Amino acid sequence: MLGFEYFTPTKVYFGRGVEKNVGKEIKKRGYKKVLIHYGGGSIKKAGIFDTVIKSLNDEGISWVELGGVEPNPKIGLIREGIKLCQNENVDFILAVGGGSVIDSAKSIGLGLAHNRDPWDMIINRIAPEKSFPVGVVLTLAAAGSEMSNSHVVTNPEGKLKRSLNHDLLRPVFAFMNPELTYTVSKFQTGCGIVDIMMHTLERYFTKDQDTDLIDRISEGLLVAVKEAGKVAIKEPDNYEARATLMWASSLSHNGLTGTGKNAFFPVHKMEHEVSGMFDHVAHGAGLSVLFPAWAKYVYKYHIDKFCRFAVNVWNVEMNFEHPEYTALEGIHRMEEYFKSIDMPVTFKELGIGEDSFEEMADKCTNGGKDPLKSYIDLGKEEIIEIFKMAVGN
Ligand code: NZQ
Ligand code: ZN
Repeated sequence: MLGFEYFTPTKVYFGRGVEKNVGKEIKKRGYKKVLIHYGGGSIKKAGIFDTVIKSLNDEGISWVELGGVEPNPKIGLIREGIKLCQNENVDFILAVGGGSVIDSAKSIGLGLAHNRDPWDMIINRIAPEKSFPVGVVLTLAAAGSEMSNSHVVTNPEGKLKRSLNHDLLRPVFAFMNPELTYTVSKFQTGCGIVDIMMHTLERYFTKDQDTDLIDRISEGLLVAVKEAGKVAIKEPDNYEARATLMWASSLSHNGLTGTGKNAFFPVHKMEHEVSGMFDHVAHGAGLSVLFPAWAKYVYKYHIDKFCRFAVNVWNVEMNFEHPEYTALEGIHRMEEYFKSIDMPVTFKELGIGEDSFEEMADKCTNGGKDPLKSYIDLGKEEIIEIFKMAVGN
């Protein structure tokens, strides 16, 4: 186990109806004017917006609103949000939504805290020195941004999607009521399941040795998500299944499953190029296409771990004579699981052709200068090979 720092400052309120107390929590913390930040309107349709404003009004907290965050959140609206907060003397940002809304809120906070354009900080990898408080009412179990140190922003100029990670970007609180996710579509539920699994898998498949404790926690999380995922897809208002997915969303990306390890997130880095260049691609859908291809490309460099994954997560019987059969069967069962929840597993299903592979691989490796770290370094050529393995017929 490698040495590590572990910091999860986000106060979590979990359970039915918890979002009604968001006003009390903000008042307790002494904030006076809130920006309510949200997406394309699902929270208004479901009545979540009304619950939140009642909670703020009951505590005498004033607020302004900014909706319109798109999936794969854009820098333009973030800049608008910064101006609005400055003009309105906002001292707290409340993100009501999924990963895109939370990331947009984090970026507005980053800009406000430093009085600087957040895209400039993201692209130049400038570490934050201050934080602006962001709280969350979560409506979608997926990205884990409600507790993560990360945020991901898209700049349509250059079609770049980039992340900046820092502990100062972790939300101060997260209200999580699984009932709020009953209205999430089958497709977005599937994307969420894939993303949750991937946040643990990117930390599971590393070169590190002696990681048994965290590997067992990771395998347990993956099995629970796999089972709850099947139920949530069939029964969208199954509380226990939605609750498992919601808490797994946070546990999978708050850093826990990466403790004592050194994870590099190669599949995420490739996916960010896909959804950065093709805005119609949801992050989870891009991941479900790329993971099986990446796994088939690298499994031979850590065959024991891929066998362990196959046996402990997918109940594959170990073939001691031909361990590669076991490893490949585990990857195959994961791919079949993605298909069973109607997630795409080929570029063809995403409507993306081979003509874009060169450009995406180029962007992903900074023109070939910075290969992705994985079991082996993945340069442009290797990434194009992986993309080709996901083309589909
Ligand atoms: O915009 P509205 O109308 O709210 O609809 C959203 C959106 O269309 C809908 N939705 C959310 N809650 C709903 C709902 N629909 C019905 N009922 C509800 N209760 O779902 C759609 C997708 O929302 P989005 O926030 O984009 O999804 P997700 O949570 O998967 O976030 C994806 C973004 O997070 C980034 C991704 O790259 C992507 O940009 N990520 C952020 C991470 C982080 N900050 O730590 C880590 C991840 O790896 C990921 O990269
Ligand atoms: Zn992700």
